Parts: sequence; structure tokens; C-alpha cells
Amino acid sequence: MFEDIFMEVVDPAIVVDTGKGKIETANVPFLEMIAEPGGVVKGKGIGNFRFTRAFGNLPVTLEDLSENSYYEDVIFEHGKDIRLQIDLKVRIITAGDKGKRYSVLMLRDISERKKLESDLITKHKALVEAHAGLQKAHAEAESFREQLVQSGKLAALGVLAAGIAHELNQPLTGIRGFSQEMLFDIKRGMLEEKSISSYATEIVKNVDRMKAIIQHLREFVRKSTEPFVPTDVVEVINGAFILLREQFRAHGIAIEEEFDKNLPKILSNPNELEQAFLNFLTNARDAVDARGNEVTDKKVKISIKNPDREIVQVVFEDNGIGMSVDTKNRMFEPFFTTKEVGKGMGLGMSITHSILERLGATIVVESEPLKGTVIKINLPVAR
Ligand SMILES: Nc1ncnc2c1ncn2[C@@H]1O[C@H](COP(=O)(O)OP(=O)(O)OP(=O)(O)O)[C@@H](O)[C@H]1O
Ligand SMILES: [Mg+2]
Repeated sequence: MFEDIFMEVVDPAIVVDTGKGKIETANVPFLEMIAEPGGVVKGKGIGNFRFTRAFGNLPVTLEDLSENSYYEDVIFEHGKDIRLQIDLKVRIITAGDKGKRYSVLMLRDISERKKLESDLITKHKALVEAHAGLQKAHAEAESFREQLVQSGKLAALGVLAAGIAHELNQPLTGIRGFSQEMLFDIKRGMLEEKSISSYATEIVKNVDRMKAIIQHLREFVRKSTEPFVPTDVVEVINGAFILLREQFRAHGIAIEEEFDKNLPKILSNPNELEQAFLNFLTNARDAVDARGNEVTDKKVKISIKNPDREIVQVVFEDNGIGMSVDTKNRMFEPFFTTKEVGKGMGLGMSITHSILERLGATIVVESEPLKGTVIKINLPVAR
């Protein structure tokens, strides 16, 4: 009868006389499961085995077992020693002439699976915690990087202060000159409407120039945490020169510029990029300065090219003192400087490196002592 089929079932199973609540038969896997291989369970009350729902601790009653049903996560207990987590399937069959009802209980041991699951959950939790730790460390590193960039910027401004003062002084001198000439003309009674207009135009021009410098200074000093935006590299170089041009003039260093037309934009934080350029330019200035009177044509050349569709290349070229192989290898190290105490901190290039690294830029340095230095920066084009 069904008994033959029943014995074939791989999962532990028992047949219960639903009316009496007594076990009719059990298969070998069931006997093995309750650690009684070869034991006899026929005639035992189903109450010898306890079925409890793992969640909510509700017992699975004889009534429950009298209907076709399926329970997940059931705790199966027998005696003191057997306690397993199972999935329980109940199938009702009728047999014999009188249509006697039997419940076939099929038990699937899921203890191992549950253990694996709980291990997995523990490991996942650990992983989530590790990830959170990593994120925190990353955020800290990022905030530290921002602080460093900001300090570098302020340090650079400290050095530039004299030049900037001079830069502002020029238009002021102009304004003073035009005003004086105007006063002079008034005194002589020779002020014509035409010249008022031309003096006023010059004065407005000079005031605008001062305004532009001050505004640029403000922007440059502002702590920049903005996301990357499409950036015109030429505009950024021009920004750096608002703060530097006068310095170069005062030091007798010529600036040569060679910019390709129709350059594509790159992705950057323009404020930080300007700081990077400023650091290259001040280093070039120092290198050229350091040659003293040895060279008469002191110059720094900046080229911006678009050699292929992928990159915008910025090249800084100076005819300064150049670098030994050792200096060249170490120039991006934090606190590495060859300058006298009080002149260089050795932070410019390490900050610059971290700024450019974030843009996915590559930097190539060629340098020879007493010849000069060429620094090529490849910036990925914005997509
Ligand atoms: N264009 C260059 N020509 C010659 N040497 C250079 C040039 N650029 C960098 N260096 C060398 O690399 C070193 C490190 O440069 P970096 O800008 O990091 O520091 P610094 O200029 O000495 O000081 P800081 O920039 O903090 O004021 C310099 O001291 C110098 O020896
Ligand atoms: Mg420097």
C-alpha cells in the first residue's frame, strides 16, 4: 500500500492516526533523526514529540496536524536530547473501507541551513561594521585633505601678499594720477567735457581691475568643497595669474603663453585646480630666481594643448636651476624642500599631487640641473 511509497521518502516522516493521535508508522530517516535507529514508535502518542513554531513559540497541536498544512521554522523536540529546527509538511490521506484519516508528517531538518544562515548574518554584520568604519576613515581622510589644501592655500597667499598688494597698488596709482591731472586742468581752467569723460573712463577701468582682483582673492580663499564641474583650464590659469602676474614682472621673469584654441573642458574643482597651478608657478618662479644673474632671459612658459580627444595637457616650462635626480624623485613628498628655512615648507607639491590625483591626472617631470624643468600634466577631458 502507501507504506511502500512512504518508506522511500528520503526526509524523515511519520504517519499518525489522526483520530487517535497515535503513531502508525515511521520511516528509517525519522528513527535516525530521533537517534533510535531500529526503534519502535508504532502506537506511541504523538504527544511524545513536541512541535513548536520557532517564532512566537506557539505549539503545533494535534488539530493543526489534522489538516493539510506547511510550517516553516518549527522546533522539533523529543526527550531531553533531541532538539532540531525543521520545516514541517502535513498531508492528510484516507485509507481502508471506512475512510480512516491519517496525517503524514514530513520533517525536513534545517538546523544546518539555519546555522549557516546565522553565520552568514553574523559575518554580514561584521562586514557592514567594517564598511562603516572604512567610510568613517575615508570621510576623516577627506576632511583632513580639505584642511590641508586650505592651509596650503593660505600659506601660498601669505607668500603672495606683497605681490597682491603691489597688484592693487597699480590701479590705485593710476586713479590717483588721473584725478590729479583732472584737478590740475580745473585749476588752469582748462577742463573740457571731452577730457572729463576720458579721465573718468580710465578711473572706472582701474576700479574695475581692483574689484576683479579682490573678488578673485575672495573666491580663492573660500574653502572649496564643491563637486567637480566642467572647467575651462585657460580660465583657471588666468585666475592664478591675477594673483601672480605682478610677482613675475617684479622678478623680471617673462611669461610665455601658448594656448590651443577650442580646448575641451575638464572636470575639476576649479578653485583647487588654481591652487595646483599656483604651486607649479611659484616653484618655477623660485627656480628661475635662484639662478640669480646667471641667466638674462628668465622665463616661464605655459602651454595648454589638446593633443588627443582624451586629454588636455598643461605644460609648465622654466629655465630655472632644475633638479637633481634625487630631488626630482622626492619633489612630491610632504615636507620635502631644498629651499632655505623659512622660504619653503615643502608642502606645495604634495598638496598639488593630491589635488591632481583626484582629477585622474598624470604628471611627468623632466628636469636637469642648471637647465630647467618641464612639468607635463595630462588632465582627462570631461565626458
Ligand atoms: N620647477 C622647479 N624647479 C626646480 N625645483 C623644483 C621645481 N618644482 C619643485 N622643485 C623642487 O621640489 C621641492 C618641493 O617643492 P614644493 O613646492 O613641495 O615645496 P617648496 O616649494 O620647497 O615649499 P612650499 O611649496 O611649501 O613653499 C622644492 O623645494 C624644489 O627643490
Ligand atoms: Mg612650492
